[in-house]
Amino acid sequence: MRIAFLASEVFPYAKTGGLADVAGALPRFLSKLGAEVRVFLPFYREVREKNFPLKRALESQPIDQGGGKKAAFSVLEHQAEGFVVTFIDHLGHFDRGHLYGTSAGDDPDNGERFAFFTKASLEAMKAVDFSPDIVHGHDWQTAAAFAYLRFVYGGDPFFDGTRTLFTIHNLAYQGLFDKDVLGRVGLPASLFDRDDGLEFYGKVSYLKAGILFSDAVSTVSPTYSREIQTPEFGCGLDGLLRARASVLHGILNGVDYLEWNPVTDRHLSARFGPRDMSGKKTCRNELLKSFGIPDGPGPPVVGMVTRLAGQKGLDIVCGALERILALGVKVVILGTGDRAIEDFLRGTRSRHPEGIGLKIAFDETLAHMIYAGSDLFLIPSRYEPCGLTQMYALKYGSIPVVRATGGLDDTIREFDPVARTGNGFKFSETTASDLLGALRRALSLHAQKETWRALVRNAMASDFSWSRSARSYLDLYRKILRSPRS
Ligand code: ADP
Ligand code: GLC
Repeated sequence: MRIAFLASEVFPYAKTGGLADVAGALPRFLSKLGAEVRVFLPFYREVREKNFPLKRALESQPIDQGGGKKAAFSVLEHQAEGFVVTFIDHLGHFDRGHLYGTSAGDDPDNGERFAFFTKASLEAMKAVDFSPDIVHGHDWQTAAAFAYLRFVYGGDPFFDGTRTLFTIHNLAYQGLFDKDVLGRVGLPASLFDRDDGLEFYGKVSYLKAGILFSDAVSTVSPTYSREIQTPEFGCGLDGLLRARASVLHGILNGVDYLEWNPVTDRHLSARFGPRDMSGKKTCRNELLKSFGIPDGPGPPVVGMVTRLAGQKGLDIVCGALERILALGVKVVILGTGDRAIEDFLRGTRSRHPEGIGLKIAFDETLAHMIYAGSDLFLIPSRYEPCGLTQMYALKYGSIPVVRATGGLDDTIREFDPVARTGNGFKFSETTASDLLGALRRALSLHAQKETWRALVRNAMASDFSWSRSARSYLDLYRKILRSPRS
């Protein structure tokens, strides 16, 4: 089975969040199951600067942008483990110091840039003669592909046998643009206000193109696939998603245990595993040292690695931070994003330099050090399509304290100290008092060494390997290929 995998970020080439981890790992596991996968990704400056050994596969390939406008792109390829990464190179669109925008806002031409990326990817498939059984696109950045396949390449024999899957990693990011973007990217203007059209409160919604014009839609956990069909989580699209319920699937993300494993992790100064935990102490001390917090056997360390965005419940943390410290823990936060949250955290840290470690940055090594060096891992998300950080924390024996929503609810089971079952702690309300309640439950057990060891064992034994989820994707691809075109 040939799969064209379109994503706007792929680890290790370019990453801002979990999508990159998924798009970097899932293709490898699909290829292990016998699929032939090609991943398509923009050739961002960040990718160029990483100096991967690349092969130039196509030079100055012309592309029709509609309205008589022409442009050209080139293609570079990288042979990854089990699959080929196909980079779409266009200096004007992708040679920038960021993927989507800066703290001042998203780039105003994102509608054009990402439509260009998807159309160039489809053209590249033709040019290298990679005729896909499935085009699998991720999030709004790739959703224009589904409109092109239906309305521009509809009669093209090259895509005759091609069927499509659109995966939503986060419904809140929709790719909304002015209505005249359609003309600028070579899509029919009539797509705006026809019955099953792309109009969303006066704007064009790219996400709608993915939901409407794909053969099937999936999202990244079973619970989130149900939640997004409700007004509370549907971001205005719950009605549309309910209408597509018969082809809407929830497949839990997996973990790439080659990358996220304390037994082999090259980012750590000491390694450890369920049979020998002594290295975790070293990781803890290193972590505290790197944040300038006095170390020693002292209090438990609560870690957070997160985008500083409303989704992640940082407002609840900010409101509770002084009370969290009063529980007698150290808090270590790595994150970047919303300016107001960054400033609030800086302010609190300056009042509690010995209690809070804070780094406002995107830092892959420090992220690994926090999973490894912390005892508890806090994820108070308002919503969470899947969430990978709780699964990483489990593997490193850092016990997740999470809000019961989306994939967090699917992966974390409240620990029962009597039966010794479960792998973390959950709370349900988006309030400081519920969060503090869960932390208190965790801390009271942390003091009981033998019980805590049982919990850590459960956590480290939790298995979210990609092999199971990759099989579910393959089953879904087969199902799509068997069912009539939608
Ligand atoms: P989301 O994709 O919504 O941000 P996930 O839990 O799916 O959330 O994935 C987050 C990914 O991004 C994880 O790999 C996490 O380690 C990483 N990450 C988030 N913030 C940072 C940061 N500031 N520095 C390094 N890695 C980060
Ligand atoms: C999104 C979601 C996150 C999910 C990730 C990968 O960024 O916010 O919950 O884990 O995509 O699917």
